[in-house]
Amino acid sequence: MMTRFVGGLLLLLVTVMFGGVSLLRILEDDDILSDWQVDQFRAGHAHAGVLVILSLVYVLFLERTRWSAPKRRLAVTVLIAGGLFQSGGFFLHMLVGEPESFSAGIAVTLAGAVLLATAVISLGASLLRGHQDEEWTV
Ligand code: HEM
Repeated sequence: MMTRFVGGLLLLLVTVMFGGVSLLRILEDDDILSDWQVDQFRAGHAHAGVLVILSLVYVLFLERTRWSAPKRRLAVTVLIAGGLFQSGGFFLHMLVGEPESFSAGIAVTLAGAVLLATAVISLGASLLRGHQDEEWTV
C-alpha cells in the first residue's frame, strides 16, 4: 500500500519539475509576472519540491511505527494534504493576494502548515516511543 504512495509522490515530483521549467520561462520574460508574483511562485515551487522529498522519507519511517495500516494511510494522507495546501497557498496568494496583506492563499498555506505539523509530530512521537524498547537497524 505504501509503495503506491511512493509511486504517486514520484509522479508528483515531475509536476514540481514542470513548475521549475515554467519558472525559468517566467524569469526570462519580465512581462509575465511582477517581481512579487515571481517570489510567490518561487516559494510555491521550492516548498512543493522539498515537501515531496520529505514525504518520501516520511513513508519510509512509517514502516518503523506500530501503527495499523489505516492509521499509516491516514498519517500519510494528512502529510500529503498538508504539503499540497502549504505550497499551493503560495500560488493562490500569487493569484489573489497583494504584497504585505493577508489573503485566502495565506490562509491555505497556514492550514497546510497545521496539517504538516500534525503529521510530523505524530510520527516523531511514535518513533520516539518505539525507540525506547526496540533496536534500530538504520
Ligand atoms: C526540472 C526541474 C527543475 C527546474 C527547471 C527548476 C527550476 C528552478 C528555478 C528557475 C528556480 C528559481 C531560481 C532563482 O530564481 O534564483 C528554482 C528554485 C528552487 N527550486 Fe527548483 N527546479 C526544478 C526542480 C526542483 C525540485 C525537484 C526541487 C526540490 C526537490 C526544487 C527545489 C527548489 C528550491 C528549494 C528552490 C529555491 C527557492 C528560493 O530560493 O526561493 N526544484 N528552481
